[in-house]
Amino acid sequence: MKAIISPVSHLRGALRVPGDRSITVRAVLLGAIADGVSTVRAPLGCDDTNAAIDIMRALGVDIRVEQSIRTERDGARSLRITGVGLHGLRASSAPLFCNSSGTTMRLLAGLMAGQSFASTLDGSSQLRKRPMRRITEPLGQMGALIASTNDCAPLVCAPARLQGIDYVMPVASAQVKSALLLAALYADGDVIIHEGSPTRDHTERMLLAMGARIAMSANVATAGGGGRVAIRGGNTTALSLRPLDITVPADFSSAAFFLVAGLLAPDTQLELTGVGLNPTRTGLLDALRRMGADIRVENANQQGGEPVGDLLPVPGPLRAIEVGGALTSLMIDEFPIFAVAATQAEGVTIVRDAQELRVKESNRIDGLVDELRKMGAQIEATADGFVVAGPTPLHGAIVEAYDDHRMAMALTVAGLIATGETTILGAECVSKTYPQFYDDLASLNSSQAPHGSLCVSD
Ligand code: S3P
Repeated sequence: MKAIISPVSHLRGALRVPGDRSITVRAVLLGAIADGVSTVRAPLGCDDTNAAIDIMRALGVDIRVEQSIRTERDGARSLRITGVGLHGLRASSAPLFCNSSGTTMRLLAGLMAGQSFASTLDGSSQLRKRPMRRITEPLGQMGALIASTNDCAPLVCAPARLQGIDYVMPVASAQVKSALLLAALYADGDVIIHEGSPTRDHTERMLLAMGARIAMSANVATAGGGGRVAIRGGNTTALSLRPLDITVPADFSSAAFFLVAGLLAPDTQLELTGVGLNPTRTGLLDALRRMGADIRVENANQQGGEPVGDLLPVPGPLRAIEVGGALTSLMIDEFPIFAVAATQAEGVTIVRDAQELRVKESNRIDGLVDELRKMGAQIEATADGFVVAGPTPLHGAIVEAYDDHRMAMALTVAGLIATGETTILGAECVSKTYPQFYDDLASLNSSQAPHGSLCVSD
């Protein structure tokens, strides 16, 4: 599918973007091994979360999707997960297919490592190229028996007895941290993890709410750096997890595209409601504010152990900044849309410490440079990030999404503020985390619809 984007004359309205992908995947995995029935309201429905749900069903867990009112929106849905307890999962005869979900595969590897049965974790050709040594190595130190193919999927897990570990993370990765925390539920000793840079802490918050013996210290909000997470081995305490009863906040990483559109597009008044504002996720908010952006937060409150609020971006000029260190990991998924914002900022924006961007769904450093240059941006790659000189007027072009949902959505926003028509090839990949992205965008631009400001074709 290609998306054809024309310059937007205005964006108006309130939007609740779909639920958080990281939280939904974690709720499915953890709800499955809880003792009792979990209710997960407003879960994200997308390729990644469907993969996680199908896998837990294949492992013998009853997961039902319930619809409270007649609408297709995720917000009206909930998941009813009948947890089988820590030791109630059953072997699946078929490989556990994670599709393109790195989160599902890496977290699941931690969960499967301590089971009494063997399992094979596989994924799409895209996922098969992503690095898995980052999890097989520390899980192996815990005693896990996981065979990989050149450090990539498929991963074959054999039954193993797990011990604790005291682990200093060599990469800033919530997926690695979470894999170890899930393996800890089946370990004989404690698992202690030291993070150099802060990463999202949804797993820790959820495990805490479910009754696991977990302690976090020096987190991002206070220290601005990494921290230490310690969890009691599940086997030492005969652990049982309480079921979840949560409402999933709207995904900050999905709201980010509209947040930036709301700052850059002319005649715009947007309200992004119920967005997850966990400080380990909102680095983009800090970066944009440092660039001079006026973004108001209203109705701040807590939902299921996570902070949420409404975001109201006010259009205005931006100035260039430098991003590195802890801030980079706090906005790790937002660099595609941040790069678009940087093209409109006065001065030279520099992104450092972001080499992880080379091993996301695509090589986002090279992809951003190649595609935004086609639209007139002055952007250069560096070994661990990129440099953008601005402000530069963008012009329409034919650009490639590289089967990367965040590239497709970021280039769409670039197309909204460019002159002429922008064609995004391979735009269907938005279904990875945000299947209704183009419908939601059209809903904020209704008066333009007859002229086809946005057109999606096969
Ligand atoms: C995620 C963690 C991040 C992020 C990914 C989702 C998670 O990956 O990029 O989109 O849900 O834990 P890393 O932990 O590998 O940086």
